[in-house]
Amino acid sequence: MYTQAMDTEAAENAKAVTTLEEAQLQQRFDARIDAGDFIEAKDWMPDNYRKTLLRQISQHAHSEIVGMLPEGNWIGRAPTLKRKAILLAKVQDEGGHGLYLYAAGETLGTSRDQMIDALHSGKAKYSSIFNYPTLSWADIGTIGWLVDGAAIMNQVPICRCSYAPYARAMIRICREESFHQRQGYDSLLVMMKDGSDAQRAMVQDAVDRWWWPCLMMFGPPDDQSPNSAQGMRWGIKRVSNDTLRQKFVDACVQQAEVLGVTLPDPDLKWNAEREHWDFGVIDWDEFWQVVGGQGPCNRERLEKRVKAWDDGAWVREAALAHASKQAMKEAA
Ligand SMILES: [Fe+2]
Ligand SMILES: [Fe+2]
Repeated sequence: MYTQAMDTEAAENAKAVTTLEEAQLQQRFDARIDAGDFIEAKDWMPDNYRKTLLRQISQHAHSEIVGMLPEGNWIGRAPTLKRKAILLAKVQDEGGHGLYLYAAGETLGTSRDQMIDALHSGKAKYSSIFNYPTLSWADIGTIGWLVDGAAIMNQVPICRCSYAPYARAMIRICREESFHQRQGYDSLLVMMKDGSDAQRAMVQDAVDRWWWPCLMMFGPPDDQSPNSAQGMRWGIKRVSNDTLRQKFVDACVQQAEVLGVTLPDPDLKWNAEREHWDFGVIDWDEFWQVVGGQGPCNRERLEKRVKAWDDGAWVREAALAHASKQAMKEAA
């Protein structure tokens, strides 16, 4: 039997070995990140890197599937068969994005059920933009143009994220997002060019309501975003919130001109010195309220999600029963 003293000594020695080993692993990890290497699921990674990624990937996955709700709401009311088919395909794509991302999240050691549970119990967040209502058909086009447009701007740099399973998922997702943005813009263009005055007014009203929340999608200003620096250090984040927001504004000004809509910001002005568009002050109080659960649709979205999950229980049970029957047959 070991004595107490020997126990302590052995434990101390083991600890020293682990610490030394960990320091070496950490050093190797840092060097790989600095060299621009990709980290795979089975590679050693620091706990905080794993936690940060899991939080980001699962929030991203939740945003994809919660984002299906405000648009799914309009599938039955699409104005033409063509628009209905396009919207159906788009909403289905978003479900697919959720699946790729939950799968990427699972490679970090947390199950999809655990992630979904965190969403449904209100512990996990999703993008604040999906807590705004879709009031008219023009909102659907505007979501494609601005919300998917902002998503692309945010997501293209993630294709080079240091965590390979996330980067790979993002490559596929970005290709589809580009279709989402175009279909939205196209639908607005038809309303603006060939539509009635009432339809044009509807588009302007939708743009007025979505513009500012879309600028908030890039997250708080760089100087108020404490986790950004670490994300950059780890190669999870490649471009800062403010830089992405500026790129988005610069791209949208021209697109708005072609469309014939006015972006609802009297301070929008070309700055020849910076060679960028200056824009007005964002209402960050509104952003934090929506993030904190007080947005116009937070409660409704979560209730719908939980109901969809409960209503689908029989499908999951049937699929599992089928899979186990197949496995039994194969074993026999
Ligand atoms: Fe998506
Ligand atoms: Fe999308």
